[in-house]
Amino acid sequence: MADHLQNIDLSEYPYINRGLEGIVAFSTTKSFIDGAKGELIYSGYNIDTLAENATFEEVCFLLWNDRLPDAGELNELNSRLQAERELPEVVLNYIRNTDKNSEPMAVLRTAVSMLQDFQPADAVDTDHAIAMTAKMPTIIAAFDRVRNGLDVVAPVKKGSTAFNFLYMLNGEEPGTASERTMDLCLVLHAEHGMNASTFTCRAVCSTESEIFSAVTAAIGSLKGPLHGGANTAVMNTLLKLKDDQGEGADPVAFTLSKLEKKEKIMGFGHRVYKVLDPRATHLRKMSKSLSDETGHEYLYNWSEAMVKTMKEEKNIDPNVDFFSATVYYSLGIVPDLYTCIFAMSRISGWTAHFFEQKENNRLIRPRALYVAEKNKPWIPAEKR
Ligand code: CMC
Repeated sequence: MADHLQNIDLSEYPYINRGLEGIVAFSTTKSFIDGAKGELIYSGYNIDTLAENATFEEVCFLLWNDRLPDAGELNELNSRLQAERELPEVVLNYIRNTDKNSEPMAVLRTAVSMLQDFQPADAVDTDHAIAMTAKMPTIIAAFDRVRNGLDVVAPVKKGSTAFNFLYMLNGEEPGTASERTMDLCLVLHAEHGMNASTFTCRAVCSTESEIFSAVTAAIGSLKGPLHGGANTAVMNTLLKLKDDQGEGADPVAFTLSKLEKKEKIMGFGHRVYKVLDPRATHLRKMSKSLSDETGHEYLYNWSEAMVKTMKEEKNIDPNVDFFSATVYYSLGIVPDLYTCIFAMSRISGWTAHFFEQKENNRLIRPRALYVAEKNKPWIPAEKR
């Protein structure tokens, strides 16, 4: 598109905005980002307050209802999520039989799409949102077990989403510290304004399509390395550095050489934040303490060296994906599941935006500037 526009006088088209940067297309009560101050609010609550106090389930309720639950409401939501964790047999069979080399995000996308067929006829959007939030961790853990030749671990009807996910993934109950770390990651990834996947979700909703299609499309959008796929890419970069150069690798020289080649370093930069992403601050702390505990100090040290180099060379800060990669790695989770964990949390934000869009809908239908020839003569196939 950049090439197409080179010879066009763009002053004639003041409404063209590649990437819709800075365009406000909706109003929302779900989140606020101040990119200059590095501030993030979910429905009235600062992310630091939530990181310190909230569970993922409380954040789900908050995003869906614009207020925190009381004790009874939280109990009820927890019970409903616990009751909804099991997968329909057809979906489990798909997971058992699909190619073991499939991308986990592709399996998640297909399995979530399948869930629509198994919802009760009288279920409404909030029931669907609860069902998807409850079942996504089961899908991810089941596929990881199956592809490793292990038995699927059935979900338990107790504990938090974080507890159950780690239990189903590893086949043993997680310790309190691991559960809290996973829970905090889910809190930090739940909602983030009009990012690409949330926009996708709202665009699908705006056609009056239904919530499973909107979430399936959002998963596809999150999968890309410029969005949620960046956390997997960060870990793959660090692991490649280790494979190529061992624990004595030089992350500064590596970063400089990538910059020289005009390559992007995954986990850095943001369309909205011009200062440090507040979520990265929490993840950085977790990454430090977990790396110390698990003997991955070198990964944390490399990360900090890359952060320093990126700041000095480009004045670019890490985003949410950078330190989350080493946090998940220290929890023993393999890199290609990281984007699925992002999705497992962001389902709360996507569905909250779906409700909001549906309540006050207007079809999302921007335009594109046509830059090719018009009214060419028709030439029969044999004469072309
Ligand atoms: N590494 C090196 N240079 C970068 C990076 C990076 N990660 N990010 C931005 N830049 C440079 C870019 O090369 C350009 O430089 P110049 O003006 O000299 O050509 C300048 O910064 C502006 O970059 P841009 O790509 O036009 O900015 P954008 O607003 O379109 O980019 C971004 C936002 C997230 C796509 C980009 O920063 C990026 O590609 N980052 C790497 C992928 C990544 O970590 N994505 C996760 C985003 S946060 C979580 C989420 O939303 O999922």
